[in-house]
Amino acid sequence: MPRGVPMAWMDDLYEHPPVWVSHGEGSRFTDADGHTYLDMYIADMSLFCGHAPGPVVDAVARRMGRGNQFLLPTEESIEVAEDLAARYGRPLWQFTLAATQANTEVIRIARELTGREVVLLFEGKYLGEGDSTLVVLKDGAVVPEARGLPRSVTGQARVIPFNDTNALEAALEPRDVALVLAEPALTNVGLVLPQPGFHDALRGLTREAGTLLAIDETHTLVSAHGGLTGAWGLDPDVVVVGKSIAAGVPIGAYGMGPEVAAALAPAPEPWNSLGLPVEEVATGGTLFGNPLSMAAARVALLDLLTEDAFDRTAALGERMAGGLREAIERAGLPWSVVQAGGHAYYFFVPEPPVDGAASRLGDDTELRALSRVFMANRGVWESGWWLGPTVSIAHDERDVDRYVELFDDFVAAVTSP
Ligand SMILES: Cc1ncc(COP(=O)(O)O)c(C=O)c1O
Repeated sequence: MPRGVPMAWMDDLYEHPPVWVSHGEGSRFTDADGHTYLDMYIADMSLFCGHAPGPVVDAVARRMGRGNQFLLPTEESIEVAEDLAARYGRPLWQFTLAATQANTEVIRIARELTGREVVLLFEGKYLGEGDSTLVVLKDGAVVPEARGLPRSVTGQARVIPFNDTNALEAALEPRDVALVLAEPALTNVGLVLPQPGFHDALRGLTREAGTLLAIDETHTLVSAHGGLTGAWGLDPDVVVVGKSIAAGVPIGAYGMGPEVAAALAPAPEPWNSLGLPVEEVATGGTLFGNPLSMAAARVALLDLLTEDAFDRTAALGERMAGGLREAIERAGLPWSVVQAGGHAYYFFVPEPPVDGAASRLGDDTELRALSRVFMANRGVWESGWWLGPTVSIAHDERDVDRYVELFDDFVAAVTSP
């Protein structure tokens, strides 16, 4: 394995070599050396159901025992689609294996429906590893975010600050934007919340410009039963989800209304050979919508990710944010805390930033890295700089109090003369 790991970026996700894991249970996992960690990162939101949740373990084993792959639909998918429709208010759903692929398909559908190419993104976003979203701003110009991308990605994307309605209006004005693809709150550059009125403006301006709006809830769905789309009454054309909806078993999904689904109509002529253009939007994969992902999602959604579970995790999130604020206040530090349901973030600046660049500029990456190592050495696994602590449905008050206590110790250690 290049760099010694199954996926190269596992190698430099943190400022230390990767910890190899043996197993997990509930709110904790244990590494190959036998150290157990209280997990406050929950695998970048994908483990919001907790480690090895019993009902999912059973459902996956049962499905495996009855055959897990046919490239034909199984009944679980009906219940999953129905639950997602009720939960996120979009009636029609398609499935992939990851949120990246869901976003890739949504971008294609938007291009097909609008006849336009440009995708509009907010600075500080992360929306997966699809070419179209791997762009950033450098000196005001859109550039590829990483190596190996075609230079042409820069001509198909626009990147503007979150919460900036004027920039949004200007970016939509040429009427060449197919899609705005946005998290309801930025979660990959700290937790950056929308300013009052921003989502209304986003919806209004995209409609006026003939641009589709997709809200990516892949991370934020942990914050409320219907995601922040439900909690804030948003009305996007598409909702994208993934990660935790199948308890960490690979899945991605996107929900839409009939106008958007019209783009998935079959080709007028059946296609029966490769090597010729097909009159259909490019979607799909051999394992997309597979019965194992569907069996896991069915139980995760129906039995675990209930309204009660979200009420409980939101209360834990409040306890966590309150504890962080008290520790910060005790130490007399000019830091701030933001929370959405069971997810929180602490900034090293007094006022929570309102866009990605401000969040990045206000950060102290070395201090943040130090806090991670301080906690890991004491048995608590924190997220990297981008996310902040999150509880899963397997966490309890004692877990939250332990995390806060350790944060308090860290703050005391770095502020003591
Ligand atoms: C908001 C958002 N969308 C999409 C993705 C991509 O998810 P995946 O890596 O499962 O494809 C991520 C990953 O962190 C994300 O944060």
